[in-house]
Amino acid sequence: NNRTLTMIKPDAIEQGNTGAIIQKITNSGFKIIALKLTKLTTEQAAEFYGIHKGKKFYDELIDFMISGPIIAAILEKKNAVDDFRALIGATVDPAEGTIRNLFASSVTQNAVHGSDSDENANIECAFHFNENEIIDY
Ligand code: GTP
Ligand code: MG
Repeated sequence: NNRTLTMIKPDAIEQGNTGAIIQKITNSGFKIIALKLTKLTTEQAAEFYGIHKGKKFYDELIDFMISGPIIAAILEKKNAVDDFRALIGATVDPAEGTIRNLFASSVTQNAVHGSDSDENANIECAFHFNENEIIDY
């Protein structure tokens, strides 16, 4: 699979880090083939993060993800899912130089999302975008 879904999260937008994050993404060889600014409803955030329902951080995660707008994008690159996870860094203690290392404020307020498998990338791309919003160029 050569596609992954990212979201620039509300903290990064609020702190003015959108441009720097997109620059880092494109400089790392990812091609943006779909992009939108949107604001998740509670229902949308609950659906997107449904696998985490019941975990101790779930309510904090949902409250955070609906606290402001997000930017969703589909990124194209060979080995997109794994390469993008490497670029953003781990959920806890992201490595030096990764997007989360540079821009996260906390484990919850961690600046960016990246799909964690090819299967979930397909589901998440379809969650945010119709086929006619994905540009082949
Ligand atoms: P996403 O790319 O947003 O899916 O993050 P992830 O794949 O690195 O982590 P995961 O899917 O396991 O968790 C989703 C989100 O929940 C994370 O991005 C964090 O914002 C939050 N989260 C995960 N684990 C913890 C935790 O142990 N504590 C807290 N406070 N938040 C967590
Ligand atoms: Mg995840």
